[in-house]
Amino acid sequence: MNMVGLDKINDKEFARFCDFVYQRCGINLNDNKRDLVHSRLAKRLRALGLDNYGEYFELLYNGRDNELEIVNLLDAISTNVTYFFREDKHFDFLASTVIPELASTKKRGSESEIRIWSAGCSTGEEPYSIAITFAENIALENRDLRILATDLSTNVLSHARKGVYDKERLRNVSGALLKKYFTGNRDRSRFRVHEKLASCIKFARLNLMHDFPFKSRFNCIFCRNVMIYFDRQTQSRLVNKFSSFLNPGGYLMIGHSESLTNVKHDLVYVQPSLYRKKS
Ligand SMILES: C[S@@+](CC[C@H](N)C(=O)[O-])C[C@H]1O[C@@H](n2cnc3c(N)ncnc32)[C@H](O)[C@@H]1O
Repeated sequence: MNMVGLDKINDKEFARFCDFVYQRCGINLNDNKRDLVHSRLAKRLRALGLDNYGEYFELLYNGRDNELEIVNLLDAISTNVTYFFREDKHFDFLASTVIPELASTKKRGSESEIRIWSAGCSTGEEPYSIAITFAENIALENRDLRILATDLSTNVLSHARKGVYDKERLRNVSGALLKKYFTGNRDRSRFRVHEKLASCIKFARLNLMHDFPFKSRFNCIFCRNVMIYFDRQTQSRLVNKFSSFLNPGGYLMIGHSESLTNVKHDLVYVQPSLYRKKS
């Protein structure tokens, strides 16, 4: 027994568990994640009042409520860290290049729609940062901006929908933008996003390992700091799915520490962590 009162997961259990997580959400856990897995699973077991992994795995693999437990488990093992205007070069590029390109094409009817997807949006800071960048750089009254923000985790999505953030998460938001798009609480330790900004964002649960249920394509897809958990094969499959849902000339943004080297795809490299679909 260890200090949390649980035996360590044995090799066979660990291998089966890694396989299960990989099949369900593409996250590739390997042996050096073993301690992390152990401590995160221990929390789930405590929450469920279980005292051994056998019972937990039985519930996970065969239980009646296993879909619910899969969501809780994936919440526990995935990393949801994010903040407003994280990796700000993407927002600079949006303002300097993407938005002027979109604005310069006069569109009619459904073509006037601008469709952006934040895939793996976590608690929502990324799609709200995208919405602020658009609001600052284009007259939204003339265009129909729709931001789809998806994640695997229901917990982060419910936080995102509330749109309330600790000041710490807003460290990259200037005083002027804070004033314009947020309302602070009495001691200004928490801020709520204005409804006008939230109204162009739709939050939905989507596992990126599944087929994408969209009828139309996107002008820009953000999938940042998500693929880092996936192996090359899974990344390759995903990037090709993203490409097939991008408009010609549309952009894919990935995290700065991620790379598509050795990933087969048909996108054109623009600059680090930024790719474009051929026009
Ligand atoms: C570190 S956050 C990234 C948030 C934001 N994109 C950013 O760059 O700040 C990674 C998110 O990816 C989500 N995620 C991991 N695997 C996923 C999958 N298979 N499908 C959908 N979302 C997934 C996690 O739930 C988590 O919220």
